[in-house]
Amino acid sequence: MTGNEQMSNFSSLAYGLMRLLDDKKGYSLKRVREKIDTCLEFGISSFDHADLYGGYTCEEVFGKALKEDSSLRENIQLITKCGIRLLDNKYPQTYIKHYDYSNSLIQKSVDNSLSYFATDYLDLFFIHRPSPLINYEELGRTLDSLVDEKKILAAGVSNFLPHQVQSLQNFMSNKLVSNQIEIHPLKLDAFTDGTLDQCQSLKMRPMSWSPFAGGEIFTARDHRTYQVRQAFEHMCTKYSISLDQCILAWLLKHPTQIIPVLGTNNTDRIKSMTEAKNINLELQDWFFLYKACTGVDVP
Ligand SMILES: NC(=O)c1ccc[n+]([C@@H]2O[C@H](COP(=O)([O-])OP(=O)(O)OC[C@H]3O[C@@H](n4cnc5c(N)ncnc54)[C@H](OP(=O)(O)O)[C@@H]3O)[C@@H](O)[C@H]2O)c1
Repeated sequence: MTGNEQMSNFSSLAYGLMRLLDDKKGYSLKRVREKIDTCLEFGISSFDHADLYGGYTCEEVFGKALKEDSSLRENIQLITKCGIRLLDNKYPQTYIKHYDYSNSLIQKSVDNSLSYFATDYLDLFFIHRPSPLINYEELGRTLDSLVDEKKILAAGVSNFLPHQVQSLQNFMSNKLVSNQIEIHPLKLDAFTDGTLDQCQSLKMRPMSWSPFAGGEIFTARDHRTYQVRQAFEHMCTKYSISLDQCILAWLLKHPTQIIPVLGTNNTDRIKSMTEAKNINLELQDWFFLYKACTGVDVP
């Protein structure tokens, strides 16, 4: 099965939990459930985690909702990542930020995630970032064994360049299904560095993290960002849509069916963002925005 086929049950927008603890309304079980329900009501069923979010606590906080209502599990896709080791009280033996992709660390991290989520499988498991010490053969074996044991339904990578994806794929019998990368109007590398081309040719489904540049696009503190925002606002007027919808529609137009991962804690924004699926930007409008992002006409 290709990555696209394996991810066909994922929603076209995903919801990210990195900012779960930053929610001004708190992160009580009731509040977490409110956001899950809003996502589900408006067609977002894929939830993106990482072991380290919230100082290695977000999976557990979110998982309380799954523990309280086990019927939720069958209606959602759980995505998580591992490998970045931060300085954190929970791990006093870590004295410097580093990456660990040893078999033992990955197995332990998957088991922790399964336990926090009260489930026996993860829908998608990402290697969070490439490491200068990556051992592709060992990593490939570990990921294959997790798929074979059905602890994870699929494996993917995050922030990998095309040659790194291929180096890992060469050692795996299962297909890598996704590369979760930073793509948004202020970060366009994936369009030209081969990442999106590779996703097409290997039938992987990219996911875009921080689709609004972590909110920078709204605050537009520097001149360039302000100009980019103005160009998107021009199209907002033409299509009678909001700025967030316009940015999402621009990402969604790509043929790889990029899945943007939303980070807002605001349920009204979640609702409104899901409208982006119904907006089809005209070809030249897409290029108008691309030009605004790059600053130059295409050659
Ligand atoms: N793989 C990786 O390496 C990686 C790295 C970073 C993130 N991620 C994933 O990507 C997800 C999303 O990242 P992100 O949170 O940086 O994404 P984002 O959606 O680009 O940024 C979210 C921020 O933008 C603000 N925002 C959103 N819509 C807004 C609007 N219409 N007006 C004003 N402010 C708005 C939000 O504030 P409000 O809450 O107030 O709306 C929030 O502070 C994460 O949760 C995580 O799952 C992955």
